[in-house]
Parts: sequence; structure tokens; C-alpha cells
Amino acid sequence: MVLLQRQRVFDLLKKDSSSLLNKEINVKGWVRTRRGNKNVAFIALNDGSVIHNIQVVVDVKSFKDDELLRKITTGSCISVNGKLVQSQGQGQAVEIQATEIVLYGTADPEKYPLQKKGHTLEFLREIAHLRPRTNTFGAVFRIRHALSFAIHKFFNDSGFYYLHTPIITGSDAEGAGAMFRVTTLDLENLPKTDEGKVDYNQDFFGKETNLTVSGQLEGELGALALSNIYTFGPTFRAENSNTSRHLSEFWMIEPEMAFYDIHDNMDLAESFLKFLISYLLEHCEDDLAFLQKMYDSELIERLKLIVDTHFERLTYTDAIDILIDSGHTFEFPVQWGVDLQSEHERYLVEQQFKKPVILTDYPRDIKAFYMKLNDDGKTVRAMDVLFPKIGEIVGGSQREEDYEKLRGRINEMGIHEEDVWWYLETRKFGTAPHSGFGLGFERLMLFVTGLGNIRDVIPFPRSPLNAEF
Ligand code: 4AD
Ligand code: MG
Repeated sequence: MVLLQRQRVFDLLKKDSSSLLNKEINVKGWVRTRRGNKNVAFIALNDGSVIHNIQVVVDVKSFKDDELLRKITTGSCISVNGKLVQSQGQGQAVEIQATEIVLYGTADPEKYPLQKKGHTLEFLREIAHLRPRTNTFGAVFRIRHALSFAIHKFFNDSGFYYLHTPIITGSDAEGAGAMFRVTTLDLENLPKTDEGKVDYNQDFFGKETNLTVSGQLEGELGALALSNIYTFGPTFRAENSNTSRHLSEFWMIEPEMAFYDIHDNMDLAESFLKFLISYLLEHCEDDLAFLQKMYDSELIERLKLIVDTHFERLTYTDAIDILIDSGHTFEFPVQWGVDLQSEHERYLVEQQFKKPVILTDYPRDIKAFYMKLNDDGKTVRAMDVLFPKIGEIVGGSQREEDYEKLRGRINEMGIHEEDVWWYLETRKFGTAPHSGFGLGFERLMLFVTGLGNIRDVIPFPRSPLNAEF
């Protein structure tokens, strides 16, 4: 095969690809379809760089190797040399007149699972190793990339530093207790103490360790030195929640800011979310249009609404009053003190305000130990951002910066002081008012793709009884 520089389909289909027009080029990719007759074959080729395929036209008569042509079926992988020309047919501006084709890999039509179109998302989840080759997952993963990039851009441009917090920790930030144990002990033959308990002194780190549920506590250490930091990494929760909004392994973005109070925190969360969504509207037009067409006819309108509207802000207490006064029957009854369920959150966002809502000042008993206590002694300076279709997308708070109050909360919650002594020390040495929040990356992905199940917005989902790929 004549050696030519490979071009991405994305670049070939760009409006200003004219410099390549009528030139010999190379393109490589996976065959989506092949059709035609005994004179001419049309191959739709996709290389994942863009949702659209490039059409490869083969003049069958002048093409000597028809054995090879027969093997070019849906799913096979080929390299094509040919001339990029203006398309004669409808539906595409340019196409390639093939001069040479090399077949890298066949895909037996009898066995290739993606031979036919129109599989359900549930079925595609069972073939997570192949689903990136579908239009839907190509779009989702390109959007996932763009969103990650936009997150770093937003923080970098705002003077935040990216802090890498550990994946393996000896602390439990959320106090939820549902964590994945990390150990090198022989589970068939556990070392025991004199009291008959497992002897973690003999474990790899000489203590009990787990996969982190949040980078926040370490993030706070960074903020109390660098002022503004953010983390962006995987977090792990061993809760047995089999819902369309929970994963056992998900990615979280956690900014933490010295000298921010809860209002600064809310302002940051709102402008951050607006920036991310505007970025996608600007950079992922084709993929969003595809998802809108296939899954959610109001997708782009809903994204624009987020960018254009001011988020409603109200206290938990006011929200409870609204829910009670609504007369609506909820599966989980509402009264002051209960943790809000997604049906409550969605009622506020979708029925009451018809826009994103930020709820503040939750009861202390349903929130984590590190949240700053309000003067009423009953509520804490928490803030949750609630989105249409999703419910909670961001959880955060102003942090308790007072050493004695924080110690009090730690003891009250039954956390051992010696496990978090280093966290407490930041309140002893140069403490400062500070705030932060956590954005669930996949919850935002759900929102921006219009898909209904969180397992479809991460390449290899982890959920109870599911870690195949
Ligand atoms: O509300 P959460 O538990 O807050 C924290 O972890 C704090 N340490 C954040 C902080 O203040 N730095 O989780 C934050 C967000 C939630 O709002 C939700 O979007 C997402 O993380 N989230 C999950 N996403 C997918 N699967 C799960 N199991 C999730 N649990 C939380
Ligand atoms: Mg939360």
C-alpha cells in the first residue's frame, strides 16, 4: 500500500477541508455499513473522531480483489487510500474514491453483535467492550472528554490548583460507613489479635484502609495552604443502591476554597455549571444534536435553560413547607428533619420552580460532621444543587472552622479523634473560614446527554454484582 498520511474523519468532514480536496489521502476506521451493486460499493466508515461517517466509494470493476471486498462487512476494520472528492450523492459533502484498501480485521456477520442497528441500551451494557463503536456511545464518550477538559479549563482559568488526593485512605470522609476495604491480608487465613479480632497491624499499611468516598478532607488541607484547589478523581461507595443515578465507582469534582462563605460557594457552583454546559453547547453540537434526536427531544432547550436562568435559592426549612403545602402525595412522607428523596427534589425543581434550585441550611442530623453549625444550633451551612430530571447533582457546605465545635461534632458522630487528628490540626493552626462542594461527574453526564441510566455515561460501570469489563 502506498504510504499516505492518515486523516481523521473529523478533519475530512470539516467545512474547510478544501485543502485536501482532490488529493490522495488515507483514512482508517471501522465499517458501519456496506451497500451497493455489482458495479459500485459504498462503505460508510467511522473512526470515532466524529459522529458522522465518511463515504468510501469503490468502483468494483476496476477493483481487482473482489475476495477482499466481500470481507468488508459491518464491524470490519480497514485502511483506505483514495482521492477526496466532492460527493455526487446526497447526504454528504465529500467522499473518497478508493484506490487501495487493506483489511486489518474481519467481523463475521454471523457472529458480530453489532451487525444490526437498533439494540437497546440494556443489551449494549452487556457488551460494554464493543458498545463504544455505536453512535450513541461514541457521542457519550466524546462529550465525557469535552466535559472533563472544560472542568480543568474552568478551574485553571479561575486560579485554582489541581490537587491529587489519595485513592486509598485511612479515613471515612462522609461517615457513611459503606466503603470498599483495601487489604493484602490472606482472607482465608486472617491474622488475629489476642481478643480474636482481625489484626490490621499486620496488614499492608499497618492499619485498616479503604477506597476513598471523597477527596474532600485532603482537599481542605490543600485549600488551607494554596487558597483555591480542586480534585477530580474516582470515588467509591459500597452502598447497595441499584438505581439509575448511583454507581459504586464514580468521578467527583471537589473544589475547596479558603475565605469563601456559603454564598461564595453557591455563586461558584452556579457559574461552574453554567460554564460547563455553555462549553458543551459550543463544542459538542453534533453529538448533542444526535442524542436529542435519538433520546430526548428537549435536550438542547433544557441545557440552554440552565445557562440562562438564575438558580432559585432557598432553605431546607422553606422547601419542607412548600412540599407539605403542595398537597402532593409522595412515596416518602415529608416532615422537618427527613432527608430529601429524589421525588421531593424533583418536585421542587420540576413542578414548583421549573429551574435549578439550591437548598441550604439542612438539619445537622442528616449531614456530615464537617459542616459549619448555624447559630440556631439545629441546622448546618449545607448547600445542595438540584437539577431537573436528576435531583441532587452537587453537595457541599461551608466548613466548620472552629476547633472546639468541630471536635464536638466528631465525638457526637462517634468518629474517633485519633483517625482524623490531622484534619483537626488545621483548625488549631491558622484556621480560616472555607467552603467547598462535590459535583457528581456522571450525574452531570446524565443531564447533558439526556440518557436515563447512569451506567450508560461511564465507559465501564461498576454497580452491585457488575464488574465484568
Ligand atoms: O453529596 P456527596 O456525598 O458529598 C460529598 O462527598 C462531599 N464530600 C462533597 C464536598 O463537599 N466536597 O457527593 C457529592 C455528589 C452528589 O451530589 C452526587 O452528584 C454525586 O456526588 N454522588 C454520586 N454519583 C454517582 N453515584 C453515587 N453513588 C453518588 N453518590 C454521590
Ligand atoms: Mg449529598
